Amino acid sequence: MAGLDRCFNVDDLRLAAKRRLPRGIFEYVDRGTEGEVSLRENRAAFDRIRILPRVLEDVSARTTGTTLFGKAQTMPMAIAPMSPAGLLWHEGELALARAAKAAGIPYTLPTESMTAIEKIAEVGGTQWFQLYLWNHRPHSYALLDRVIDLGFEALLVTVDTATMPNREFNSRNGFAMPIRPSLRAGWDVAMHPGWLFGTLARYVLTSGLPAAVNHPEGYREAIFRSPPDDATGIDRRTTWDDIRMLRKMWPRTLLVKGILHPDDARKAIEAGADGVVVSNHGGRNFDSAVASIDALPAVADAVGTKGTVLLDSGIRRGSDVAKALALGAKAVLVGRAALYGIAVAGEAGASHALEMLRAELDKTMGFAGCRDVDAIGRALVAP
Ligand code: GLV
Repeated sequence: MAGLDRCFNVDDLRLAAKRRLPRGIFEYVDRGTEGEVSLRENRAAFDRIRILPRVLEDVSARTTGTTLFGKAQTMPMAIAPMSPAGLLWHEGELALARAAKAAGIPYTLPTESMTAIEKIAEVGGTQWFQLYLWNHRPHSYALLDRVIDLGFEALLVTVDTATMPNREFNSRNGFAMPIRPSLRAGWDVAMHPGWLFGTLARYVLTSGLPAAVNHPEGYREAIFRSPPDDATGIDRRTTWDDIRMLRKMWPRTLLVKGILHPDDARKAIEAGADGVVVSNHGGRNFDSAVASIDALPAVADAVGTKGTVLLDSGIRRGSDVAKALALGAKAVLVGRAALYGIAVAGEAGASHALEMLRAELDKTMGFAGCRDVDAIGRALVAP
């Protein structure tokens, strides 16, 4: 479908996504912030790491399976929370949730998704929820109650958006939120009929323009129209007290997402979190931020056995997953790789991305002499 059989790796999928999507949307997903130093560095840092192969171990019966928060899964990955999913594919979050379920890994639904939480919960599988605290806290708490009632198994609180990122290319493309219709955007869309008829038209013919459907009434049109006030704006005053309070409110696994400093990792655990996600937001927020994979070893040492460390930002190969595990992560969040997949072919595209990453991880383990993921340790990485 849609040339998936010609996509042999995530980079191929990225190019196919670039062809189908209007440029404004593709760049919103693909690019970083300011000079895109942290975006490039996420990749460069992975590429600098070399694995020391091991030979003459019988690795013929190896497995990528693991256990995360007490639950068995097929590989040490989960799908990261990504708010633009619904812009790439009609109800793109459903496509991601189904692909995650089929692959046997968790899906993380973001606060700002364009598909209702209730609809995602119906898919089943292992589901996590990403929370941005809004300025008007009662709205956030009402949202949290829904997420608890629907049985989401982990809450990932994103903490690395303390100021508005400076994504200059969005402004250049007329793609700053709210999106304003313009001649340039109209031309961009007209030149991408696959997206126009396959995605935008499907919204217009069913539910109307894509909207932030989990927001309270009156705030859902925020993608195309300024909301009446900043009640559902990301609360820039969020502190450790909020993590302590969320710990009291949230009955299941609690993760703090967007940690790069070992002291912050310690604070997260002290505040009651079950773990942290080492992340520089895919290079989308702070252009001078250290690469996640470079920050990982110190964070993993700081957390030790007191919590679980996950990582995102820059995963494009199964070998990247092995490198993250070697340096202290229990699993990784897969972001853009899955988004490129849905941009090309919805659920089938995301499944293709996950399967390529699984197969590459499996091969890496074969070359590195690892029968299972627990055998992946720091000795795997060349000094
Ligand atoms: C939001 O968190 C984004 O990265 O666009």
